[in-house]
Amino acid sequence: MLAVRAPGRVNVIGDHTDYQDGLCLPMAIDREVVVRARGRIDGLVVARSDAIAGVVELPADGSTEPASAEPRWGRSIAAVLRGLAERGRAPIGFDAEVTSTVPVGSGLSSSAAFTVAVTIAAAEIAGLELDGRAVALQAQAAEQHATGLPCGVMDQMASVFGRADHALLLDCRSLDLEAIPLPASVAVAVVHTGVARRLEDSAYAERRAACEAAAAQLGAPTLRDATIDEVAGDPFARHVVSENGRVLDFVDALRAGDLDRCGRLMNASHASLRDDFRVSTPELDALVDALVDAGAYGARLTGAGFGGCVVGLVAAGGVDDIVARAGARYRSTTGLTPVPLVVRAVDGAGLVT
Ligand code: GLA
Repeated sequence: MLAVRAPGRVNVIGDHTDYQDGLCLPMAIDREVVVRARGRIDGLVVARSDAIAGVVELPADGSTEPASAEPRWGRSIAAVLRGLAERGRAPIGFDAEVTSTVPVGSGLSSSAAFTVAVTIAAAEIAGLELDGRAVALQAQAAEQHATGLPCGVMDQMASVFGRADHALLLDCRSLDLEAIPLPASVAVAVVHTGVARRLEDSAYAERRAACEAAAAQLGAPTLRDATIDEVAGDPFARHVVSENGRVLDFVDALRAGDLDRCGRLMNASHASLRDDFRVSTPELDALVDALVDAGAYGARLTGAGFGGCVVGLVAAGGVDDIVARAGARYRSTTGLTPVPLVVRAVDGAGLVT
């Protein structure tokens, strides 16, 4: 019997950069998926969830085509099993019980947390050694395979490498990480707009393709090395290049303790995601404005956009008050009920002992 936990994440700044080899600053949060697994001798993987109906039953050898697995939530398990089989995992079956405190459809990476936890559990039970980067890349590949969504690697890296009280400066080209301390004087507030996010339905893949086309036109593999002048006339590419710069500026400002500047960079990130990259919604805009007006240093949509959550940087002492006032204003302007979550940065995924 073993238990694996994998946290969700919130991205503090740096969205829609990861799939262009760019920079981002996520943190793992104190909402997590736990998979409890026990070996079986019949070569089957049988999974149950406390939140999703249906029992998943799959051969452990990875022979099920992920896109055809039913119930649907078994698709990423099938993709993990297939990916690990290709890495030489012995086809050892197991029972898995899944519990989760990561809100679904919020942009807090519930599915990345799930896939990371399943990857670690499936590897561990079969004695397959994987380092953290291999877990993240494997989980990313499984998610792409299972959903058809060409996600980047930020969510999985954050879930694997999170560190308590730190955000992670992640270079998505080298996969180098640097843990950046979050001062005790600030709180990270996450507020859900009350509008669910459906990534598959969104323009995520279109945006990614537009970035790839822009890079190809510059003769570059990705937009990582493009200069702001080179992309001045292309709003999608301009967002990616300017956002990479904001991530570095934010880290400098955080290190210098200049929280006002951090906030302004978050606001600028939101404006760029709204106006240049066009992944915001009126609800996300309203909630960002409400948080800033209520006294947050800054706020922005977080994750892919198109619904889900905003993230705000707030003075630790005033967080409850600011979030309550922002929520009341948001409710009165939109008629929607916001869901606040104050999150803490936690360590990344691993075995629970
Ligand atoms: C989703 C994807 C990530 C990343 C963000 C946007 O969360 O899974 O890889 O692209 O959107 O920054």
